[in-house]
Amino acid sequence: MSPKGAQSPRFELDEPHGDRVLVIIPTYDERENLPLILQRLLAAVPSVHVLVADDGSPDGTGQVADEWAARDERVHVMHRTEKAGLGAAYIAGFGWGLDHGYDVLVEMDADGSHPPEQLPRLLDALQHADLVLGSRYVSGGQVVNWPKHREWLSRGGNLYSRFALGVRIYDITGGYRAYRAEVLKALALDEVASTGYCFQVDLAWRTVRAGFRVTEVPITFTERQIGESKMSGSIVREALLKVTQWGAAHRWRQLTGVFRRKPA
Ligand code: GDD
Ligand code: MN
Repeated sequence: MSPKGAQSPRFELDEPHGDRVLVIIPTYDERENLPLILQRLLAAVPSVHVLVADDGSPDGTGQVADEWAARDERVHVMHRTEKAGLGAAYIAGFGWGLDHGYDVLVEMDADGSHPPEQLPRLLDALQHADLVLGSRYVSGGQVVNWPKHREWLSRGGNLYSRFALGVRIYDITGGYRAYRAEVLKALALDEVASTGYCFQVDLAWRTVRAGFRVTEVPITFTERQIGESKMSGSIVREALLKVTQWGAAHRWRQLTGVFRRKPA
């Protein structure tokens, strides 16, 4: 038997920390995964609400979500008309969540890679932070079953982002995270143009630059067993180009700041 308190506790209270929490799950062709993740999530943290942001999945994920929403008032569905990328789905989802008065907005993949059982860790850490990143690459974090080339792509992307942006975050590309609503209200979300997975870097970078507190907690990322990743060459290219641009702009600001005369 494991010693008491050794594991992250499950929330027994109705509203942990008194926050209204919305978990946003973007979906594209996740018909088989969606019921599994909803079941796990609502069992692990029953007080959360869920918004499924579906991009008109051809496999009928949207209908599966509607069926859940019809029998569970915690589940909501946003039907979007076309596949417009992970970033666009989250921006729309955040807008919905802020309009409906949630205090905390969580990002979670539909394919089971982000264990809902570890959500309390993120929510606990959010008591002393404005953005909590679920991190594969801090002590205690893990990646399970990812092909080596995919893990190295992810590790390389994180290393590159860390140096290009000069920010000490070890998993800035990850997609399991919790934002305080104040952060998302303060950022100009309508200006965010990143559509692919570099959306994650984009938002974390904006959060850091706006002066909010960002922290990482370890998570175990397990590769999906059902369906396929939507990662593509164009998603990688968008990320590489944008991170390089943000890094160069940042260094330029630092450099010109050095030469700028202080106001008298
Ligand atoms: N609505 C919508 N629209 N959802 C999408 C789209 C889209 O265009 N593209 C992907 N998704 C959804 C998937 O259905 C899934 O729920 C989630 O976004 C993650 O997609 P995956 O395709 O499974 O991502 P991954 O496993 O390759 O990538 C993971 O690692 C990346 C790099 O660390 C994710 O955690 C990414 O968020 C992360 O950036
Ligand atoms: Mn995945």
